[in-house]
Amino acid sequence: MEILKDVLMKKIHYREAKIAVVGLGYVGLPLAIETANQGFKVYGIDICKDKIESLSLGKSYILDINDEDIKSHINKNLFVGCDFSIVSEVDAIIICVPTPLNEMKEPDVSYIKSVVKDITKYLKAGVLISLESTTYPGSTEELVVKVIEKSRKIEVGKDFFVCHSPERVDPSNSTYHVKNTSKIIGGCTSNCLELGTALYEKIIEKVIPVSSIRVAEMAKLLENTFRSVNVALINELTMMSEFMDINIWEVIEAAGTKPFGFMPFYPGIGVGGHCLPVDPVYLSWKAKKYNYYNRFIELTTEINENMPRYVTNQIADILNNIEKSIKNSSILMVGLTYKKDTNDLRESPALKLFKLLKKKGAKIEYHDGYVPSLKYDQEIFYSQELTVANIQRADITIIATDHSYIDYQFIINNSKIVYDTKNATKGYKGRNIVLLGGYTMIE
Ligand SMILES: NC(=O)c1ccc[n+]([C@@H]2O[C@H](COP(=O)([O-])OP(=O)(O)OC[C@H]3O[C@@H](n4cnc5c(N)ncnc54)[C@H](O)[C@@H]3O)[C@@H](O)[C@H]2O)c1
Repeated sequence: MEILKDVLMKKIHYREAKIAVVGLGYVGLPLAIETANQGFKVYGIDICKDKIESLSLGKSYILDINDEDIKSHINKNLFVGCDFSIVSEVDAIIICVPTPLNEMKEPDVSYIKSVVKDITKYLKAGVLISLESTTYPGSTEELVVKVIEKSRKIEVGKDFFVCHSPERVDPSNSTYHVKNTSKIIGGCTSNCLELGTALYEKIIEKVIPVSSIRVAEMAKLLENTFRSVNVALINELTMMSEFMDINIWEVIEAAGTKPFGFMPFYPGIGVGGHCLPVDPVYLSWKAKKYNYYNRFIELTTEINENMPRYVTNQIADILNNIEKSIKNSSILMVGLTYKKDTNDLRESPALKLFKLLKKKGAKIEYHDGYVPSLKYDQEIFYSQELTVANIQRADITIIATDHSYIDYQFIINNSKIVYDTKNATKGYKGRNIVLLGGYTMIE
């Protein structure tokens, strides 16, 4: 049985292993491209026909990947499709499907379950499976290993190999990308870990093996829970600072001069994206199964989820000071995505703010170069150009996402009031700016 491991190890060594990447989104597509860059034959599988069609035409739908990256590989050493039967030919399968929350704010692992069901019947002997989707501790064993062992009557570590290697990629980060972001990996058995480490070491600069799959799963949740908790802390201090009339942004900058023991986090309308609002909930949900109630995570979620309401109240106060109400006020929102320089709207707090203001009767328009249109409540909104007329029409301009391409001085010069949730106006001149958490009275 050692032979299966040796065969795959040899194929990995000579880059002859065929790799399937399942789920070609923000995580899977950059990984598939990097794996192809490193000389492997890659088979990308996605259930979204539009994405497959786009890739087949050499067109990227992810900002970090340009069309040339696709064109240089497609149908040479990158093959894409919706059909899982190709799995019968591959030596390794890397799963990168979504792990969101359902309506009840509980983990939705149905995407992983569906992939495991689809690949199981095609698995060849000695295949390596790596789950990259972020998920709660224990899920790789529960949702991947046990299901395959039971339905195929095969044994992990001997007949097939399983790892968990959580993805850490930070879309739109120009410094860190797939290759130079170190990667943790845990294996189900020592054979699994050796094979998984060998494969990733061919693709990623630094691979960090850990003693178990659960450690790898938990490490990812720790990373994002840490960020979420600290953002919640700073959000709470921001709300407190408003009452104390202290500029929290300056406080963070001052504290950040300490060369050790302090890491700056910044307030915002909340936390967004596929990770920070979601991952801590995976952990607290699982902990409840052990009768453990994670108060930190519950409190963090509560504070961060309430930020759009706090921000709405600040906007109401600002408008009140100029004898206006949110209802019927003209509001221009700049930026809708969950963070700057991305087109990702998932869990975007800016979007939550947009909806709250709309519900309160604001006449709302938006500008976001990454979001040409937005459908909400049977209505379609289109991104407005940042022209003098469009800005001057608004009673207040809200900077919700601080995209790098935006001319903030132009916004300040032409806005009646700027409400800046990102401190994007730092260093620019204007007496019409209120920062999130700041004193809401304009001089
Ligand atoms: N986006 C990030 O910044 C980021 C960072 C680190 C980790 N992660 C984690 O990585 C995982 C993937 O996230 P993402 O942002 O790439 O999601 P995504 O939605 O951008 O991509 C997932 C892809 O999987 C496809 N898919 C869904 N079900 C499928 C199925 N049954 N078979 C084949 N394809 C299927 C979808 O069509 C989509 O293209 C999640 O667990 C996420 O938490 C994301």
